[in-house]
Amino acid sequence: MRILAFESSCDETAAAVVEDGRTILSNEIFSQVALHEIYGGVVPEIAARSHLEVISLLADRALEKAGLGRGDIDAVACTYAPGLIGAVLVGVNFAKSAALALDKPLIPVHHIRGHIAANYLAYPDLEPPFLCLAISGGNTMLVDVRGYTDMRILGQTRDDAAGECFDKSARVLGLGYPGGKPIDDLSKQGDDRAYDLPRPAVNDGNPYDMSFSGLKTAVVNIVHHAQQTGAALDEPGLAASLCRAVSEMLVGRTMDAAKALGYERIAVAGGVAANSRIRADFEAACNKAGKALYVPPLRLCGDNAAMIGAQAYYEFLAGHTADSSLNAYATMEL
Ligand code: KG4
Repeated sequence: MRILAFESSCDETAAAVVEDGRTILSNEIFSQVALHEIYGGVVPEIAARSHLEVISLLADRALEKAGLGRGDIDAVACTYAPGLIGAVLVGVNFAKSAALALDKPLIPVHHIRGHIAANYLAYPDLEPPFLCLAISGGNTMLVDVRGYTDMRILGQTRDDAAGECFDKSARVLGLGYPGGKPIDDLSKQGDDRAYDLPRPAVNDGNPYDMSFSGLKTAVVNIVHHAQQTGAALDEPGLAASLCRAVSEMLVGRTMDAAKALGYERIAVAGGVAANSRIRADFEAACNKAGKALYVPPLRLCGDNAAMIGAQAYYEFLAGHTADSSLNAYATMEL
């Protein structure tokens, strides 16, 4: 089954063709980073307008790269939640029109389910159940993936997402937007013990819930203090200490959950899964605990439409299709 899939929840417009949930036939991405960079973050209205300008072109390119015509497509899928509402709406409306024009089923996909499904593309043998840590710019959650469409959130951030913590820290350091990659790059020249950063814990019941706003504030305060007093700032050391703190918070909880629930397979997904410290720490922890680790290649960690096409296949098999009354949602339960 060949699915033409769209992703437009934030600042990447993407179209892809995926076969049977596992094989990428094409995966076209237009990044809007250059449009938002000057503002230090994503401007929702600019994002929506840009999606509108390029989505049709990307759809044609995805078909062309796959070597397919419109008649070769069996279904159309799109991210319908969560995300910037104006941005998600563009993809939903385009997908609705395409499904109507092609007279094919329309499959709505939850963005985070899509991130998790990036692992099905990278690891054709991976099947649920497994534990997945989904870490992106807007979400941070530990998910019990019981089936392809049967998931339970074990814990999640109570405030900022891990990606947001990287982005805001990078902003105060003048590293631009998005900040995860520049922080990652800078951290490689730094001492990860240069700064003693907090690892905020949530102490009211759920051991798998997380909090990143205190860590972000600690970094902001260190930078502001240095700016105001003229004290020396070890930027690579701060970046390395931040990567270490975020990684320890994420890897520790994930390994605890895997042990408590008896999971032998651990997956990581989302843009922050590109972080080299987090990847290395997961590898070491899984090796030590004798667990299998699944982390998508960098090109499938960030937002893309292939992951939406992968999850869409399993949503279709579960009977989860929509008609032209489908709406977009800024927030949505997993
Ligand atoms: O999954 P994604 O592309 O978009 C969302 O669905 O949010 O994730 C984007 C996030 C941003 O916060 C970005 O700074 C972060 O992923 N990111 C990284 C790295 N590359 C991207 N964070 C840490 N280290 C990286 N190498």
